[in-house]
Amino acid sequence: MKVQGIILSAAVLLLLHPVSAVKSGDFKTCSQSGFCRRGRAIAARARDATASWKSPYSVDASSVSVSSEEALITAKVQSSLYPDVDFRLEMHVEDDGVVRVRMDEVSGLRKRYDEAADWALVKEPTISSDIRWTAGKKAVSAAYGAGVEVVLEYEPLRVVVRRHGKEQVVINGRGLLHMEHFRTKETPVANEEGLDEQDVMTSLKANAWFEGEDQDAYWEESFSKWTDSKPKGPESLSVDIDFPNHGHVYGIPEHATSLSLPTTTGDDPFFTEPYRLYNLDVFEYIASSPMSLYGAIPLMHAHSAESTVGVFHVVGSETWIDVAHPSPMSSQTHWISESGILDLFILPGPSPDDVFAQYARLTGTAALPAHWALGYHQCRWNYVSSDDVRGVQKQFDEADMPVDVFWLDIEYAEEHKYMIWDQKTFPDPINMTNDVAAFGRKMVAIVDPHLKRAEDYPVYSAARDKGLLIKQSNGEDDFEGWCWSGSSAWVDFFNPDGIEFWAKLFDPRPGKEWSWTQSTEDIYIWNDMNEPSIFNGPEITLQKDAIHYGGWEHRDVHNINGMPLVSAATSTGLIQRGDVRKRPFVLTRSFFAGTQRYGAMWTGDNLGTWEHMAVGIKMVLSSNIAGMVFAGSDVGGFFGNPDAEMLVRWYHVGIFSPFLRAHAHIDTKRREPYLLTEPYKSYVRNILRLRYSMLPVWYTAFRENSETGRPVVRPHYAVFPQDLNGFAIDDQFFLGSSGLLVKPVTRPGVTEETVYIPEDEVYYEYFSHQTYHGSAEGKNVTVPAPLDRVPLLVRGGSIVPTRERPRRSSSLMAQDPFTLRVALSKSGAAKGELYLDDGVTFAHRDGALVWREFIAAKTSKTTTIKSRDLAVEKPFAADLAIYDPANAFSQSIKNVRVEKVIVLGLSGKPSSVMLTGGGELVWEFEEGAGSAGKEERASVLTIKDPKVGIAQDWEVKITL
Ligand code: NOJ
Repeated sequence: MKVQGIILSAAVLLLLHPVSAVKSGDFKTCSQSGFCRRGRAIAARARDATASWKSPYSVDASSVSVSSEEALITAKVQSSLYPDVDFRLEMHVEDDGVVRVRMDEVSGLRKRYDEAADWALVKEPTISSDIRWTAGKKAVSAAYGAGVEVVLEYEPLRVVVRRHGKEQVVINGRGLLHMEHFRTKETPVANEEGLDEQDVMTSLKANAWFEGEDQDAYWEESFSKWTDSKPKGPESLSVDIDFPNHGHVYGIPEHATSLSLPTTTGDDPFFTEPYRLYNLDVFEYIASSPMSLYGAIPLMHAHSAESTVGVFHVVGSETWIDVAHPSPMSSQTHWISESGILDLFILPGPSPDDVFAQYARLTGTAALPAHWALGYHQCRWNYVSSDDVRGVQKQFDEADMPVDVFWLDIEYAEEHKYMIWDQKTFPDPINMTNDVAAFGRKMVAIVDPHLKRAEDYPVYSAARDKGLLIKQSNGEDDFEGWCWSGSSAWVDFFNPDGIEFWAKLFDPRPGKEWSWTQSTEDIYIWNDMNEPSIFNGPEITLQKDAIHYGGWEHRDVHNINGMPLVSAATSTGLIQRGDVRKRPFVLTRSFFAGTQRYGAMWTGDNLGTWEHMAVGIKMVLSSNIAGMVFAGSDVGGFFGNPDAEMLVRWYHVGIFSPFLRAHAHIDTKRREPYLLTEPYKSYVRNILRLRYSMLPVWYTAFRENSETGRPVVRPHYAVFPQDLNGFAIDDQFFLGSSGLLVKPVTRPGVTEETVYIPEDEVYYEYFSHQTYHGSAEGKNVTVPAPLDRVPLLVRGGSIVPTRERPRRSSSLMAQDPFTLRVALSKSGAAKGELYLDDGVTFAHRDGALVWREFIAAKTSKTTTIKSRDLAVEKPFAADLAIYDPANAFSQSIKNVRVEKVIVLGLSGKPSSVMLTGGGELVWEFEEGAGSAGKEERASVLTIKDPKVGIAQDWEVKITL
């Protein structure tokens, strides 16, 4: 980039970016943020007042009206603090039992931002017409579903959801609800004309019990050297949401902390701040902290052995959330947002799967990713030239290591003008991409949202000329700030024209306007720095009084900001750019509720430390339960130079993350896995091969998520919701419904690891077939964990489909045969699923797919294993009316066979293994070892080439 004629290198730019470990002074604490301070002060006053505290908000009973279809309640709400200010509350129950509570100020001086739901929700939910409300003098209520009751109490306002009489969620039970109404600076009390100074002071004093004595940071606020002009004055929203019968709360990503959220109001010196949701570029973030990170999903689960419930508060402004556990069996939370309306969904569960489905119906699920995107991604800042890329590819091939995608960070772009190749280093980008694509591989190039303000940069000049840029606080001049490209501007993605403009940029076909003709359909996109990161802005982001489309201030939409870029703009552009519509791939750093529909995320700039490796697992689990399932952390750690042991373990973590990418900072040493010496190099080769062998499992898990919202990687509480021992477990997890249970090692020098088995079932170690027996109360077992082995168990009762031929990339596996690992349960049964389609186009939506179920069942001396067509049984999707088992995709794999069936845990040697309708098969049997009750090696029956197609119905009979 050029500043006063000098071209600055990335190294110099780094100096503009904060460079030491997290500078906590760069980021606000609650006490440095006016509205958070005010919100927490209400909670403190309520605590001090104890029994005498009563919420000033109440429902005007005479105003309660139930719509003619009895579906929707509306009511006038008032607060005794400001009797002349009206609020309107709306409440309804949706078809699946979700309760929505909305509250807004009526006829205020201004309009509160109420569009967050338009971005987050996949569609407006359907209001149930079966609900019958009963309005009484003190409350209105409705009972529905399996013992659920929702009640709106009038005086004070309180919303309670009960199940079988037990409180599940209570809103404003502690009386912390406060919607600061719009007011004028001179007259703090809205709609009250003619008040003199004295009246104003009297009114302030009268309300001091609730609001405090002074107008704390109402009209302007400073932090470090920045001043936020706050022209609209105070408009924050505080609400307490309690779970009196749930001891654990999870969710509200993104934070680097345990999955079960620690208390923020207790003695833990690292958790004295509320969890903050304010998308920020936090340099060298701490591995255990409630501080903000890059993404924000205002969804929380509360869990107990009896039920799981969720709350989803659709708010796009900065939000702080205090969490307390007054007893081990209850949780209290307090949400404080800077602006916006109250728009709260209560997800009644009662199981984790119900909550996943309820949230998925609201915000959608991850689109089924391109199959190649589940392979291994190799990134670094930077591969410096097209020959460098070719060289890296060559070395992967020479080392016989599979890889699907090579990434280009910001240095490919001339002066960081994204989509403009640096001709000196990348003179032949299309040939380079084609050389990569020749092996079925793809490239991903970074396209950040900051546009260098250079006349010769067509993306910038066109966006400016079309009036598509974010504006300064005066609403007229384009906003200017600093990022990698120096002085930059930002397209306003809240403007539909901004989205359309951006989407067209990715078209490699020449058109009337500038588009990236120097690209191909094999290049996909990485949207980084989209919080947005602005090096010279407050807290390294955009000032809150900057103006977006529709006149909204940035403060209203900050947490949503990264989403329209990824969603509507980049991913739509990628879908539209070719003659055949292909699935997009976009990686985003910033995300909001609903972003899962469009892209993958990663956990940003982690450190090459064991702590960061460990917390990365928890963060990926947290984003998985919040719908953002296509998630991973930089393998190796972004900063630092991990030693060989750490790198190998990090690959173990990586291959069990939905998104698997190695990445490294520009100052780190090269650490592509082929550079490792032996034995580490072979370890990583085998680890990557293990990931590739399991691609069918990952793809099947993504299919399940896309239909049900169930996470791709699942924490214990989601799989065994009644097992108290598992509620805080977040260092081991299940991969989809496959039955694979993994606990990556995240400490040095380990040779064995403890794994918790939550049930009275047999689990098999994946590699050795050693058996481990759980118990009904749950049991810890010790499994070997030398450096070449990730602790990986298969749950008895599972059938795991794999493809075990080592290949250079995933697309070369399309015709490879399958292995089925049948891990029999204690009772001799097992089940598994496999989903396949072309992995590239949208033809699966027209029924071009294969979806099989494998079932093993036992009757006295016979075990049968059969394969059946699940798509016939359970239509793939509601809109899939035309499924035909002989569809084009299934025809394309008609020669793909099952090459091996491995049956673990038969009670004795078979006398015959026959294919029904065929003859005796070729098989081998290895006896189990050990005695009953002791850990032992399972018996292993290996059936070689049963001569059946993967897409075909078949049955194998094993007779003892
Ligand atoms: C910040 C991102 O988090 C990191 O992954 C990337 O390498 C740098 N920006 C440079 O683009």
